[in-house]
This record gives sequence, C-alpha cells and structure tokens, in this order.
Amino acid sequence: MCGIVGYTGNAPAAPILLEGLEHLEYRGYDSAGVAVVSPDKGLQIQKCKGRLQALREKLDSLPPLEGTVGLGHTRWATHGEPNDVNSHPHVSQNGRVAIVHNGIIENYAEIKDFLLHKGVRFRSDTDSEVVAQLLEYCFTDHSDPLDAVYAVLERLEGAYALGILCADRPDMLIAARKDAPLLIGYGGGESFIASDATAIIAHTRQVSYMEDGEVAVLTRAGVQVFDQYRRPVEKQRHTIEWDVSAAEKGGYAHFMFKEIMEQPEALRQTISPRLRDGRLVFDELELPEDRLRDFDRIFLVACGSSYHVGMLGKYNLERFLRLPVEVCLASEFRYSSPLVDERSLVIVISQSGETLDSMAALREAKARGGYILAIVNVVGSSIARESDGVLYTWAGPEIAVATTKAYSTQLVLLTMFGLWMAEKLGRADPEDYAAVTAELALLPAKLETVLADTGVYQYLASQYFNHDCIFYIGRNLDYALGLEGSLKLKEISYIHSESYAAGELKHGTISLIEPGTLVVALATYGQLFDKAASNIVEVKSRGADVVGLTTESFRPRMEQLATHTLTIPDTHPALQPNLGVAPLQLFAYYIALQRGCDIDKPKNLAKSVTVE
Ligand code: F6R
Repeated sequence: MCGIVGYTGNAPAAPILLEGLEHLEYRGYDSAGVAVVSPDKGLQIQKCKGRLQALREKLDSLPPLEGTVGLGHTRWATHGEPNDVNSHPHVSQNGRVAIVHNGIIENYAEIKDFLLHKGVRFRSDTDSEVVAQLLEYCFTDHSDPLDAVYAVLERLEGAYALGILCADRPDMLIAARKDAPLLIGYGGGESFIASDATAIIAHTRQVSYMEDGEVAVLTRAGVQVFDQYRRPVEKQRHTIEWDVSAAEKGGYAHFMFKEIMEQPEALRQTISPRLRDGRLVFDELELPEDRLRDFDRIFLVACGSSYHVGMLGKYNLERFLRLPVEVCLASEFRYSSPLVDERSLVIVISQSGETLDSMAALREAKARGGYILAIVNVVGSSIARESDGVLYTWAGPEIAVATTKAYSTQLVLLTMFGLWMAEKLGRADPEDYAAVTAELALLPAKLETVLADTGVYQYLASQYFNHDCIFYIGRNLDYALGLEGSLKLKEISYIHSESYAAGELKHGTISLIEPGTLVVALATYGQLFDKAASNIVEVKSRGADVVGLTTESFRPRMEQLATHTLTIPDTHPALQPNLGVAPLQLFAYYIALQRGCDIDKPKNLAKSVTVE
C-alpha cells in the first residue's frame, strides 16, 4: 500500500523518481507526487490525483524540477479521499519540510488536535500530514533535523515508512521505518530508498532492509543508519539476484497474463532445488527432528489468496501428517487469543512478506511460543526476517495486483513441506510419497499443457462476460480451489461471485440459482466426482449453465453433465489444484479483458497490504 522512492546523488532526481514510481504503481494508484529539493529553489512539489501518467503530463507541461535529492510517492488512500490535496508529498505549513508516508498514523487525530491548538493550519484530510506539521513544529526546539525527526517518531503511533526532505538541507534525505517496508539502495555516489527493490533495480542491486525503529540519513557522502535509541547500526548488504526484465511486461499486454504464463517456470524454481533423486530436501530449514516431533498442531495463517493456499494446505497436511491443522485469517487470528504454544507450528504464508495483518499474527504467535515458519516470495521481507524458518517460493517479482504465480508456488511448497515433514515423522505412506514426488517432477510440464491453448477460456469469457453473478462450487480440495477462482474473478472483473462447498448449496444458496445463472463446477478431486456430479445435476435442473472443470480421465462423464467442459491432466490428487487453478485464472482474466477492466490495477486494491 503506497509506494515510496527516494534519491540522493548527482543526477536530476525527478526522472529517477518517476521511473521508480512506475514500478511501484501496483502498490497504490489513487494519486502520485514528487518532491525535489535544491539549494536555489528549495522544496518543489508536484502531485495530483490519478495514475502516474497524470503526474507525468503535469510535469511535462512545467519547467523541470531542479535538484538531485528527492522523494516520490504513489498512494493507496486510507484517510482522506483520493484528490490532489490529499496526495503526497505533504508539506508543512511554512514549507520547511516535505514528507511521504506509507502506513497509518493511528494517533493522528490527537496530534492534529494538539497542533491545531498551537495554530497550525492543515491542508489535507490525511493522517500523514501530521508528520510534516509535527516535524516543523519540533524544529522550534531542535535545529538539527535528525533531533527533530527523533522527537516526532517518539510521538507517532501506528505504522510508517517515511521519507523526509528539509528545505534548508538540500543535500539530505531522511527515512524512518516501523511496520511498513523500506529498503536502502547503494549506488556509486548515489543512494536510494524504496518500498521495494523493483523501484531501484535499474540503478543498483545492493540493498539493505530497514528494521523497525531505524532511521537512515542519506547524503551524497553515503548512508548512515541509526536504531531507535540513535545508536549507529552497521547494515548488512544484500544483492538482488533477479533480473530487471522479471519486473517488466516483456511484450505481454498485462503483467497478470505474463505471470500466469510464467507459472510452469516458477514451479520449476520452487520444486527443483527441493527434489533430489525422488526425495524431498529442505536444506534451508534448521528444524531438528525432535523439534518436528514436538509439534502437536499446525496453524496456517494468511490473508486473501495466501489464505486460500492455507485452505488447500489443511486438506493435504492433515492427510499426510494426521495432525490437526487450523487455517486462520491473519486479521482474525491476532485478536482471537489463539491457542498457540511451544508445541505449535505456525506457518505464515505471504507473497509480499509485508502484509500487516500477517505480520501482526506472526508476532502474536511468536509471543505465545509457537515456532514460526514463513512461506514467502519476497527475499528479505519483514515476515521472512522475523520468522524462525523461511521457505522462499522463488516465483520472481509478482507485479499484477491479483496473485497467480505466487499462489501456485506457495501451494506446491506447502504440499512439499507437509509431505517432507510426514516422512521425517515416519507418517508418510511410502507409495504415496513416491507417487507425489514422481508427479512433482512432472508438474511444470503438465501445467504448460494447460496453458498452451487459451482459446477455450476466451470463448467462455465471450459467452459469460456480461453476467452479474457467477457461482463456484466444489468439494474438498475443489472447494478450496473454488474460493481462489471466485476471488480472481471478482477482484479483476468486478463481477459478484460466490464460492460454495458443493454439498452446502442445498442448505440455502441454491435458492439463488435461476435459469441462465453460471455455475463453475470444480470436480478435479476424483474420489468425490460422483458427489460433485449430483450437485451439478441439482443446479442444472434449476436452469443453471455449468462450466465443469475436471481431469482428463473424467472428461466423458463431465461432458454428459456440464454445458461446457474444461479439463486438466491427471496428477496426484494432492497436486491437482496446482493444475486446476490455471483455467480459473485464465477464465477470470479473459472475462475482465472483455469487460475492459484495468486488469493489473483493479479498483480499490493494492498489491502489498500494509495497513490493518
Ligand atoms: C489476491 C491477492 C491478495 C493477497 C493478500 C495477501 O489476488 O493477491 O488476496 O493474497 O493480500 O497478500 P500476501 O500474500 O502478500 O500476504
């Protein structure tokens, strides 16, 4: 939520900031702005409502912003509607400081009240503006900007990644972080801050991740970082491994389509380092067998699509491990006094590794003594750093707001981990183990065959794109898979959609089925095909159109039942959802395309949800 980029160096800052913002727009796109500071012109701010393109056009019509130090911001509105005034950067009353902010200042009302009583005039409705105003206020007691920043941070409650410029210090940029991502990039004679590496990868691969409470001072001379007590911190530097092209569209119309098509390769990257000679290996985990044996319960904690991975994971892990597995929405878990203790294995699943709800759930579970294992895509992200163990999905940067390849890699990784653990505990059925591992090796190629021909999804989209409600039904793994299919559809096409456990329809929902209603019936879990078939008949006899998704071996039967039949190759049941999700992604994608939606940046959404 909200993207921040900052630059100090010798080059004009504005073009570098705009280019960086282009890569951060997926984090929020309600408005965009830049602030540049120079010795002659002081602070110069331009910002406006709308996409980055609107800001570009505005800047093109004006004399260039002068200065080699600056900040950029792309906003996902929380407090205050998206408009020009509420856009960042925010400037203090007398124009002494400009700030950009990602997060929520929870006690902003109290600070605002205090400052209003001191005669400060506010311009915006945002929580963020209080930071700029309070900072200027603190300059009355502190002439050194860093003293003033520390005085402000002491009073802030909530989450923030902050970039700060001072009109009378045109050589300097200050950054601060608490519960919102921010990294520092190191170039030759220049340095950067950014919400994520995509914004600066064209300039440097050398980064360090700011920790909560840290403050960084960036000048041409270099970067100094201090902890919350203002003690200097020696930051570890990391090299970004992935290539810049991974974060570009590469000729595809949309990132989402590109990322759907990248799934076979992403699966290879996830599976191959952990599958050797038919055996699962998790070298990256330092989890002794006696610790594994200790666990008497597993919690899968996540949000959104990552939560849907957890839903699928519950079925597979309970089957492999015969241990109780609870799937929890992170936003509920943290306030539910969860029954986590030293014998709990808590698996936090997150693409970004920055989702605030998941992060808070992680801390809650940790405080209760649970062992935290993260399944994360973004290397060095907060969730990865705070966990006891990390399994990276290696899906590469995911830019489209709607997740696809991260979901798929999370799913396969969780399944692999569950089976690995079952084998370590002596609970894996050897035949089943051999069957799953054999199919794991074939999975990427099988997925390629699913993605090879998209014509059928385009055709179905042309038939159903103007429906205003679409149902998904399925049983067991197919039920959990339907939740993801339904979410994909609604988030990018804005069609209302519901997903139900197929057996549950008759307990209420079936009253919504009318002649012509589209029901996407998932029946890829062979063991329950007959049960799913009965549910298909029930909705068809009430006039529904049914798109049935099943495996090749059930194709003839599905063709007798459904209006349209989609098939995927057969694989081991535990891995079947990894093939089943692709048709659902493509169906959603083509429907959104037909409806003219902004697929990579659906309305009201943002990629990395760093607010509660
Ligand atoms: C949906 C989607 C979201 C995320 C959710 C959690 O397509 O992408 O539902 O899955 O916001 O995000 P992460 O996985 O980054 O914690």
